[in-house]
Amino acid sequence: MTSHRPPALRMNRLDRLRSMLASVGPLGETHLTLPRSGVAYRITRPTDVDRLLDAAVDDPEQNLPYWAELWPSGIALADAIVARPEVVAGQRVLEIGCGLGVTAIAAGAAGAQLTVTDYAPESLWLCRYNCLANQSPEPATMQMNWRQPPEELFALAGDGFPVVLAADVLYESRDVQPLLALVERLVAPGGLLWLAEPRRPVAARFIELAVERGWATSEPDGVWDGPWPEPNDARVRVRVHRLYRPAAPRV
Ligand SMILES: C[S@@+](CC[C@H](N)C(=O)[O-])C[C@H]1O[C@@H](n2cnc3c(N)ncnc32)[C@H](O)[C@@H]1O
Repeated sequence: MTSHRPPALRMNRLDRLRSMLASVGPLGETHLTLPRSGVAYRITRPTDVDRLLDAAVDDPEQNLPYWAELWPSGIALADAIVARPEVVAGQRVLEIGCGLGVTAIAAGAAGAQLTVTDYAPESLWLCRYNCLANQSPEPATMQMNWRQPPEELFALAGDGFPVVLAADVLYESRDVQPLLALVERLVAPGGLLWLAEPRRPVAARFIELAVERGWATSEPDGVWDGPWPEPNDARVRVRVHRLYRPAAPRV
């Protein structure tokens, strides 16, 4: 349950989450400024990526620890939410692949009733931590593999979430079909998939297939070109799209 906590309880909760994060290894803090709104966050993140890569060697899905990095798409989607908080305010909102929680901070602060999901449990702990540390409510979390989503997730979705958020989740072609099938069950009829992507061909294919299946695209929120926190991302441009699921099933 998303909730605001009194300051003392929030500090206790942050201490508890911090102790759970001990297993992640050394942590550092990055000062992040959203490029358009200028809203500032402090993001706690792992600093020893080699250690995470070593731990990922045994992962049966061969997922790399992308959750531990700051991605331009998550930053751009947070900025888009700051610009249009009414899209999520008071709504049941689900995020797919939340990473460190940058988008979640903005969604929670805008008044979303937020549940975040990710493959990596460490990401869920850090997302909770970063939300609370940035004065945003702690979101509900669910660990899940979008290639084998649990029934529990669909039970939570019920008739669907009015808004689903996803930032830079489309980078492997093996994920196009599973993610399309997933959002067709998670987004309510007529509901919104708010998607940020750094112009990868896999994302373009996903959007093309969604449109073939009757999803509507509205004017995109625009293109973000930084500045981004990582120097290697200097040339990255992110598009933020709104995709609406058809209101009625196709016949
Ligand atoms: C490129 S990162 C983007 C993170 C965040 N949305 C952002 O923009 O900062 C991709 C995220 O998807 C998660 N992910 C990757 N494969 C997944 C899977 N099969 N099921 C669920 N989450 C997955 C990763 O753990 C990671 O947090």
